[in-house]
Amino acid sequence: MAVREVRFALVGAGFIGRIHGLALQAVNRVFGDTPLKAAATVLVDTDAALAERQAGQLGFASSGTDWEAVLPQVDAVIIAAPSFMHRAIALGAIAAGKHVLCEKPVGRSTGEAEEVAEAAAKAGITNGVGFTYMRVPLVRHAIDIVKSGKLGRPVNFRGWHAEDYLADPEAPFSWRLDANLAGRCGALGDLGWHIISIARALCGPIASLSGLAEHVYPTRRTATGAETRRVVETRTGPRRSSASRAAPSAPSRRAASPMAARWISASS
Ligand SMILES: NC(=O)c1ccc[n+]([C@@H]2O[C@H](COP(=O)([O-])OP(=O)(O)OC[C@H]3O[C@@H](n4cnc5c(N)ncnc54)[C@H](O)[C@@H]3O)[C@@H](O)[C@H]2O)c1
Repeated sequence: MAVREVRFALVGAGFIGRIHGLALQAVNRVFGDTPLKAAATVLVDTDAALAERQAGQLGFASSGTDWEAVLPQVDAVIIAAPSFMHRAIALGAIAAGKHVLCEKPVGRSTGEAEEVAEAAAKAGITNGVGFTYMRVPLVRHAIDIVKSGKLGRPVNFRGWHAEDYLADPEAPFSWRLDANLAGRCGALGDLGWHIISIARALCGPIASLSGLAEHVYPTRRTATGAETRRVVETRTGPRRSSASRAAPSAPSRRAASPMAARWISASS
C-alpha cells in the first residue's frame, strides 16, 4: 500500500496542544495500516522557549513562533491556540489550502464560526472541530443506537458536563475570563460545547434554548500578584459602568448551569 505523509503544524503548545502533540505521535500506531502517515513537522507557540521544549518532548521536527510563516512547510494545521486566535488562523490556513482541525470554539460568536465554516466549505479542504467527547466509545455507541431507530424518536435529552478547573476562587485570571478574548458566553462558551455537541448528535439541531446563568466569582487574582485582582468580564467591548459589571451574566466558573433546549427534530 502506498503511504502518503501528511505534514502537520500544531499551533499552540498549552494544555490541549500537548494532547494533540501526543495524538500525532500515537495516531499511526493506534490505527495501524492506513494510506496516510501523520508527520509532526512544526510546533508553533508565541512563547518560543515553550515551543522549542515541547517540540523536543513531542518529537516535532522543528518549532516556531509565527503560524503564518510555517504554512508553506505543511499540509494540515491543528489550531490549539486560545479561542481569540481561532478565526484568524483558520482563515489563514484555509486560504493557503491547508486542511484544518480547529479546537472548540471555532469562533467567539456565531458570525465568526460561520465565516470559518463557509471558507472551509468553499475551499473544499478536510476540516473538523475538537469536540473531544464525540469520539468517546460510549457516546459513539449511544449515537449508533439512536441512529438505528431501535429506540424510536428521542424526545428528551438530559446531560451534565461537570468540570471544575476554575471552581477554585484563587485560580488566577486568564484569557478565558476576558469576554473580548474568549467571547461572552463564560463557562457555557468554553465547556458547554461538549455536552451540546453530544445532544445535537443524539437529537438533532436545537431550535430554542433557555437557561440560568450565574456570575460566581466577579473578580480573580492576577497570575503575578495575589493582591491584584481583575474583574471577570462576560461582556465584550468597553465597560459602560461599574453597574454593568455587577449585572447577572454568564457564569465565570466551570459550573454546570441548568439549561433546557427544544429540538427541531423532536418537535417537528
Ligand atoms: N477539546 C477539548 O477538550 C479542549 C480542552 C482544552 C482546551 N480546548 C481549547 O483549546 C484552545 C487552547 O486551550 P488551552 O487550554 O490549551 O490554552 P492554554 O492557554 O493552555 O494554551 C494556549 C497556548 O497558545 C499559545 N498562543 C497564544 N497565542 C498564540 C498565537 N498567536 N500563535 C501561537 N500560539 C499562541 C500560548 O502561548 C499558549 O501556550 C482553546 O480554544 C480551548 O477552548 C479544547
